[in-house]
Amino acid sequence: MLQKITQTADYLRGRMKTHPKVGIILGTGLGNLATQITERQEIPYEEIPNFPVSTVEGHSGKLIIGKLGGVDVLAMQGRFHFYEGYSMEKVTFPVRVMKFIGIETLFVSNASGGMNPEFEIGELMIITDHINLFPEHPLRGKNYEEFGPRFPDMHEVYDRELIRRAHEIADKHGIRVKDGVYVGTQGPTFETPAEYAYFRVIGGDAVGMSTVPETIVAHHMGMRVFGMSIITDLGVPGKIVEVSHEEVQEIGNKKQPLMTLIMTELIKTV
Ligand code: HPA
Repeated sequence: MLQKITQTADYLRGRMKTHPKVGIILGTGLGNLATQITERQEIPYEEIPNFPVSTVEGHSGKLIIGKLGGVDVLAMQGRFHFYEGYSMEKVTFPVRVMKFIGIETLFVSNASGGMNPEFEIGELMIITDHINLFPEHPLRGKNYEEFGPRFPDMHEVYDRELIRRAHEIADKHGIRVKDGVYVGTQGPTFETPAEYAYFRVIGGDAVGMSTVPETIVAHHMGMRVFGMSIITDLGVPGKIVEVSHEEVQEIGNKKQPLMTLIMTELIKTV
């Protein structure tokens, strides 16, 4: 694995015209942030050695390197989900590569179902912590000391200072945001009412099928992480209705500009 990461990182370093320290994973809710990256260079995943190729609808696969609000960034348009059949090693491979090419702070976004009864559809949630319920751990197996420790501390995975600044930015622009705990599950099914209730009982505010593996790996490698989620449906008793991937995308799209604004302003402070 180490050899593959080094090979991919070397390849990208050879092609990249800038040396960003900020990485972004453009999940649901941040797709349009990609359009605001200027002086851009695009590298399709197919061209990158050892990179998986994404398959799911609504996620095209390429790296976008350029400037966002004057800051050099490297954005992944299209992530790899465990439910697509990728191993955890593949799901998190790009994050390891990011670290090897010099990324220090990772920004991630996703769509999720809200269990917190105070949430509304379209709510923006800053991820303050997570609960990892994926059936396989991304750090399972041999630990490479080059990456990080065998038993990583997890007491502050989502950077508190970035969370504080994000609230400041949201307040300044009059954008409603909530804090919350993100539960990461494998999918691809959305939750049954009993499962939403269970995730609430164990301390979750929202549930989704991504982000947690990438975040764990980023944290293991010493990167700062900031994550936001768009609540696209509610798993709150009495408010649970049928949910579809299309609806998740539609609500995600509607809320994108606000999330993009917060992220862009936040990235300027890094
Ligand atoms: N559950 C899991 N993943 C999701 C949901 C949900 O309710 N909404 C959007 N992604």
